[in-house]
Amino acid sequence: MANILYTGINHCVESFDPDSTLLDISLENKIPHLHECGGNGRCTTCRIRVIEGHQNLSPRTALERDTAHLRKWDPSIRLACQCYPKGDVSIQRLVWASAEVNKLQLETIPEGEAEVRSIATLFCDMRDFTRITSQNLPYDMAHMINRFYTVLGDPILMNNGIIYQYVGDEIIGIFGTSGGSREKNCHDAVRAALGMQYAIERLNAFELKDFDTKFRVGIGINFGKAFIGHLGHPKHRQFTVLGDPINMASRIQGCTKEADATILISQSILKSLPEETVDIGRVIRKQMAGKDFESELYEVKGFLKTDMNLELQSSLDLILKNEERFAERFYEKVFTRAPGVRALFKSDMAAQGRLLTHMLGGIVYSLSRPEFLVMGLKSLGKSHERYGVRPEYYPIVKEVLMESIKEEMGALYTDRLEEAWNQALDFITEQMTNWKPREMAVV
Ligand code: HEM
Ligand code: FES
Repeated sequence: MANILYTGINHCVESFDPDSTLLDISLENKIPHLHECGGNGRCTTCRIRVIEGHQNLSPRTALERDTAHLRKWDPSIRLACQCYPKGDVSIQRLVWASAEVNKLQLETIPEGEAEVRSIATLFCDMRDFTRITSQNLPYDMAHMINRFYTVLGDPILMNNGIIYQYVGDEIIGIFGTSGGSREKNCHDAVRAALGMQYAIERLNAFELKDFDTKFRVGIGINFGKAFIGHLGHPKHRQFTVLGDPINMASRIQGCTKEADATILISQSILKSLPEETVDIGRVIRKQMAGKDFESELYEVKGFLKTDMNLELQSSLDLILKNEERFAERFYEKVFTRAPGVRALFKSDMAAQGRLLTHMLGGIVYSLSRPEFLVMGLKSLGKSHERYGVRPEYYPIVKEVLMESIKEEMGALYTDRLEEAWNQALDFITEQMTNWKPREMAVV
């Protein structure tokens, strides 16, 4: 038997199964533990720090050894999905929320030297910052700025981007630091910009309506090769991105003001996207500082077709604004429609609800890392078969989830949102119910 102490929540659980990994033990005990790739040793989100009892864990697997080497981990950091406890251990989960996952990409960026990588850069600036500051009390202003940064940061993080810097009233996001195709990185950046636009509209309409203040933003996006690394004084190295495409993105953002546009993209971004992706408004010709030719900038009004990721990302915080209520109502409806299912749930439903909403949030954050998401969903499907979940239950759960989403969204529910969640739940079901390798599938 092994006692596992989760130091962060000061909670101890027992494990009697030598074939359970630390991640299995967390899930069996309903302790939220991120595991984007579903325990396949690929995503590193299940990482833990071993506080005591290191000797009681199985040695690193080859997969974990490679990861630890690449990311320069000390021996106390382990992948929970790759280690089996043989005796008592105290551990600390290191990644608490999906939003933190992108920071992990920085571990693969070299120290003390710069590498050239192709990235999309997004500059977002708050309009009329000085006027808004002078018209509001410092206390109110601090609250509003915090909300501003949060709602604008989320779309960057949900689209596999990194918040590179906050400079005064400006946020800089970069996309593609750890690779990915040019098309994907540019698509992610444009989706993030549209997500920011949605987020600001909502912030103004709901949270800020009593402050008599409306935020407006200008966003410029560019793509190109940049130097990227941890640079600076040996005692104070910091993540740095340098290069002309970065300066250009900043200048494009500057042009949004004179053009009175919210989002402008460069030709390099537009060229990277398949035709008929973006709804383009005005085309602006401009000689940018330092260039001896005219550049074309394109105003982005939206995506031409429903973009599943954007719709899901933009509705997540509203759907889960009261996670407990959402989960409670959801399970109530499932049990009314399929009373037999109740017996499959062994433990306290509040804890189960937390795992469900944690997972739904995680799925939306993982949409821009589909390789890990698919692995994670297949593993989830495999555990559901073990729980006794039959394929015919999935349509019931989907129907109830759709109803619950509609209920939470209220007047903000749209046809596009319905189409996107329908598509997403079909995809989730497909992955969860088809987890067996082809040759093993029972005909
Ligand atoms: C949209 C698809 C679904 C998602 C995202 C989902 C998510 C989850 C999560 C995150 C857990 C926690 C344990 C784990 O991570 O393995 C879980 C457990 C469970 N789910 Fe689901 N689930 C889905 C569909 C279903 C369906 C269709 C059923 C059947 C009615 C079901 C029944 C259960 C049961 C019985 C457990 C285990 C409860 C226990 O151990 O007490 N789930 N689910
Ligand atoms: S590496 Fe452990 S869950 Fe992905």
